[in-house]
Amino acid sequence: MGDLTDAGDLEGYDKTSQFIAHSLQLGEGRRHASIPVGIVPGNHDINRPMALEPGITTKFEPLNAALRRASLPPLPVEQSLILPIANGSAKLSINLMNSCWGCGAREYIPEDFREGIGKAIEETLAKGGEKALKTYYDRQFDTPAFSEPSITQLVQSGRTADASTLLVVAAHHNLLPQRQPRIAQYTELVNSGAIRGSLGELDRPVVYLHGHIHVDPVETITAPKASPLICISAPAAVDGFNVLDFVFTRSGMPLSCQITPWRFDASGILHPAEKVAVSLLGKRRRSHDATLNKIYSYMLEKRELYWTELINVDPPIFTTDVEEQTREAIELLIADESVLVENYDSSPSAWIIRANI
Ligand SMILES: [Fe+2]
Repeated sequence: MGDLTDAGDLEGYDKTSQFIAHSLQLGEGRRHASIPVGIVPGNHDINRPMALEPGITTKFEPLNAALRRASLPPLPVEQSLILPIANGSAKLSINLMNSCWGCGAREYIPEDFREGIGKAIEETLAKGGEKALKTYYDRQFDTPAFSEPSITQLVQSGRTADASTLLVVAAHHNLLPQRQPRIAQYTELVNSGAIRGSLGELDRPVVYLHGHIHVDPVETITAPKASPLICISAPAAVDGFNVLDFVFTRSGMPLSCQITPWRFDASGILHPAEKVAVSLLGKRRRSHDATLNKIYSYMLEKRELYWTELINVDPPIFTTDVEEQTREAIELLIADESVLVENYDSSPSAWIIRANI
């Protein structure tokens, strides 16, 4: 999720690339070479002096070269990189985007102020040393932004992908402002509104993955009658990571996204915390489905059921693929907030299902 280095340290580029490749055994010739990998740049990966050199892509070249040396895939630069992932009829299209296109650049500062602000930044950094440099990076006194072509590309890929493909976007910066007040003039993504607006018009659920803030909220942005935009923040790597499971119907429609936070405890041992499930259905909610209504009515009558009771109902609700169809129905009812499974992280055969009234 980016921020692989501190303060765009050029020597750190090789160290971080080698660390990722060797510790996780990713990239060509390594144990997990077959696992698709996507890496996006963070604001801390931008070397300031390079950002002031001509050519807006120059500042990304040394890190990309280091990733190449470690046999890892490149960063998205001006355009997004698309990582398609399929498992049977379940399909994801992961758009890796560069939210640091504007970092360190002055193009996004209004022209009348550009020269003055640029000069003030340089003077303050020259006088303030390490502390000022840290403030610069931590408070992002720069202009994080997506490039216009990458936004257009995202919208096009969202319009052309078939309805059953789930669109996932991965980029470094958060779309919504967060708790920490950022005092800088240019604080959050300068064109996050463009992304939110464009994704909102796509009429399909989108999962947006980011880092940057070192806390890990899950936020769902919805407009009336629109599909949800689900923003999931990764924690800082020292705290752990998230595992995301995407649940699809048997016909391949995205149903829900389940987030399992794996976190280190005080002894440094990694534990899975409770799963969070977020519906991807949005306005596609299917409460009109006769079978779902039948199960929900039955659940209302019983209030609480064990999985085994539900699949052995007489007369049976499903006659073929009973376990799979029941699981799908329960997932749909969970997504619809009609039922609740208290031990959702257990296998379905152990589920205790409760009706929400
Ligand atoms: Fe960051």
